[in-house]
Amino acid sequence: MKEFKRYLLTAALPYANGPVHIGHLAGCYLPADIYARYLRARKRDVKFVCGSDEHGVPITIRAMKEGVTPQEVVDKYHAMIADSFAQMAISFDIYSRTSNPVHHKTASDFFTKLYNDGLFEEKETEQYYDEEKKTFLADRYIIGTCPVCGNPSAYGDQCEKCGSSLSPEQLIKPRSALSDAVPVKKTTKHWYFPLQKYEPFLKQWILEEHKEWKNNVYGQCKSWLDNGLQPRAMTRDSNWGVKVPLPDAEGKVLYVWFDAPIGYISATKELTTEWADYWCKDDTKLVHFIGKDNIVFHCIIFPAMLKAHGNFVLPDNVPANEFLNIEGDKVSTSRNWAVWVHEYLKDFPGQQDVLRYVLCANAPETKDNDFTWKDFQDRNNGELVSIFGNFVNRTFVLMHKLCNSKVPPLHNDVMDNLDEQMLAEFAITSRKVETLLEQYKFREALFEVIDLARKGNKYLQEKEPWKKASALDKLTMEDSGNSQQIVDGLRKQIDNSLHISLQLTANLSILVNPFLPFTAKKMNYMMKVVDKMLDWENAGKTKLLSTGYSLRAPELLFRKIEDSEIITQIDKLKAGLIKAQDALNKNNIMTSTQAGNESNDSGNRSQDKPENSAANTIPITKETLKAEIVYDDFAKLDLKVATITAAEKVEKADKLLKLEVDLGYEKRTVVSGIAMHFKPEEIVGKQVVLVANLAPRKMRGIESNGMILMAEDKNGKLYFVSPEIKIDEGSGVS
Ligand code: MF3
Ligand code: ZN
Repeated sequence: MKEFKRYLLTAALPYANGPVHIGHLAGCYLPADIYARYLRARKRDVKFVCGSDEHGVPITIRAMKEGVTPQEVVDKYHAMIADSFAQMAISFDIYSRTSNPVHHKTASDFFTKLYNDGLFEEKETEQYYDEEKKTFLADRYIIGTCPVCGNPSAYGDQCEKCGSSLSPEQLIKPRSALSDAVPVKKTTKHWYFPLQKYEPFLKQWILEEHKEWKNNVYGQCKSWLDNGLQPRAMTRDSNWGVKVPLPDAEGKVLYVWFDAPIGYISATKELTTEWADYWCKDDTKLVHFIGKDNIVFHCIIFPAMLKAHGNFVLPDNVPANEFLNIEGDKVSTSRNWAVWVHEYLKDFPGQQDVLRYVLCANAPETKDNDFTWKDFQDRNNGELVSIFGNFVNRTFVLMHKLCNSKVPPLHNDVMDNLDEQMLAEFAITSRKVETLLEQYKFREALFEVIDLARKGNKYLQEKEPWKKASALDKLTMEDSGNSQQIVDGLRKQIDNSLHISLQLTANLSILVNPFLPFTAKKMNYMMKVVDKMLDWENAGKTKLLSTGYSLRAPELLFRKIEDSEIITQIDKLKAGLIKAQDALNKNNIMTSTQAGNESNDSGNRSQDKPENSAANTIPITKETLKAEIVYDDFAKLDLKVATITAAEKVEKADKLLKLEVDLGYEKRTVVSGIAMHFKPEEIVGKQVVLVANLAPRKMRGIESNGMILMAEDKNGKLYFVSPEIKIDEGSGVS
C-alpha cells in the first residue's frame, strides 16, 4: 500500500445555471464532505476544493432563456449554490468559480503549453450552424433523435436517456435548440486533442493498475477504451468562456470540459501558495468525487490532459455515484421533478443532519436509488429518533436521575459479560467504520454507527438500571442492616451501566461527526467536551469522559417528522411538475427539456401563471353530470395502476401516442389521445390508472388494450390521474 502524505479532494464543479438539488448532494458533495471530515479528524493533510462551473452551453442557454447575460446567470446561481453548500455544512476549503481571473490564466496557460508542445491538431470541419441565430451548434445547442435508443430529445453531446455519448453528426433529424431551425453546415476551425494517442497509457493505468475502482466506474472506462478513443475538439465557437489564447482564434473559447476540471487546479492555487505540493508531488492522494455522468471526463479526458501536460499527479480514485431518483422518477430539472436544497433548508430549518443522514443511508453508491419522502420520514423517525437520539437521550436522562448529573465511576469488581462486550464493541465498530470509509463505502459505514447506537439501546434494556434504582430505593427505605452488600452491588451496577453508556455516547459523537456534524456538536455541548475530543484517534477508547465530570441537561437531537410534513412535500413536488408543464406548453422560444443539462440545469423556474384563456373554458356545473348509476355499474370497471414504460407518436395522427404500459403481471400497448398535451419523452416513467378490462380496439392499425384515465380542467388541459406516490404496478383502484 502506498503511503500518502497529503490528500487533495475535489467535488465536481456544479454548473452555475441553477440551484443544487438533493441528487447533487447525494451524488458527490456529501460523500466528499464525509471523507474530508473523516480525514481531518485523522489529522491528515487535506485540501477539499470545489467551485462553480460558469462556462459552456448550460450557462448561455439559461441566459437566453431568462433574457439576461451569462454573467448575470452565473452571479446569481454561484451565490445561491455557495449558500446551499455552506448551510449544509459541506466543508470545502475553498468554493471558487471559473470566471475568476486566476482560473482564466491557469486554463489558458494549460492550453498554451499543450499547443506549444505541438499536441493539438488544427482542423477545419463542417459543423452544424443555425442561420437564424448565427451560431454554431455544438453540444447542447443541438437536439435530435438518439441513434442508439431513439430518444427524440438527445443532445449533441449526450443522450440522457441511454447515456450514450454522441456527436452532433450522429443525431437523426437534428434541430437547433435555440430556434428549432433545421441547421445547415458551415466550415469552422478547431483544435483537437488526440485522445487516441493516450489509449495505451490509459489502458495500462486504469484497466491494469486501478482494478480496485468501483465497478460502475471501471466498467464505463473499460467500455470507452474498448471502443477506441477519438480526437476531441477542445475549442468552441462562442463568446462565453476562456478565450483561446491564439492570434487567429477570434470568437473561439476553450471547450467547457477542457477548462472546468482545470478549475480544480485554479481553486487550489487560490487557496494556498503551496498548491503545487498538492498537484505535483506523487505522494498526494487525489480523489475526484463526481456523479456517473462525469466519469469519462474525470477518468479519461482530464487524466490524458494532465499526462500530456506533464508534472501532475493523477487521481488515485474516482468514486462516482449513480443517480438518485425522486419518488420513483428520474430527476428532471426541466419537469421540475427535484427536491431543491435551498427549499429543503427553508422547509426544515435546523434539520440539515436529517437530510445528510437520509442521503447517505440511501446513497446511490452502486446503483441508482430512490429518494422518497416516506423513506425520509421512516429513517428519521425510526433510525435517528428511535435509535440514535433515543439512546443518547435515555443515557443523559438516567445519568441525571440516577447518578447526580455526573459521570459515575466504573467498578471493575462488578463488571459482567454484557459490560465487557459493550466496551469491546467501541473499538470493533470504530475499526469497521474506518475501513469502510477508506473504501468510500459511506452507507455501510453509517449503518455501523447506527448499529452501535442500537447495541447501546439493547445494552441499557438488558441492564435496566432504572429497575436496579428502584430496588435500591426500596432497600434503603427498609433500612435492613444486613443488606449493605446488596446495596453496594446495586449502586455499582447502576454506575457501570451509565458509565459505559456515557463513554459510548462519546464514541458515537466521534463516529457520527463526519456524517452528521451538527449532531456531534450538540452532543459535545451536552457532554461539555471540546472539539478536540472528536479526533479520530479517540474512536474506540473507553475512557473519554472522566469520572465525576458533571454534564449538561440533554437536548433532543432529533424530532419526529409528522405525516403532514411529508404530504406537504409530495404535494409541492406535484405542484412543481404541473407548473413546469404549463410553462412548457407556453414556451415557444425553446422547450425547457431542451434548455441545457437535465441533471444540473435547474429547469423551469418560470414564475409565470398558466394562461387562462376564458374563451375556451368549459364551465363545470351540476347540469353537466351524467345519469346516476348503481354501484354494480361501477364495479364492472377493472381499474389498475400501471407505469408508462415507452411512448411514441403515432404516424400521421396528431393526437395519438402509442404507449407501452407495465401492469406488473403483464405489459400492454395502449393508444391514447394525449399527443397534443404531452411529449412522449416526458411521460415515460409516469404512473397512471388504466381501465384494464376495456375491450381491445384498433386505432390507426394499432390494437389498444385499455384506456388511461385523465382529468381535464376547464381550459381543456389534461392531467394524469396517478397515485400520490409510486406504488406497485397492478395495484387495484376502487
Ligand atoms: N459542471 C459539470 C456538471 O455539472 C461538472 C464539471 S466537473 C469539472 O456536470 F471537473 F469539470 F470541474
Ligand atoms: Zn439514447
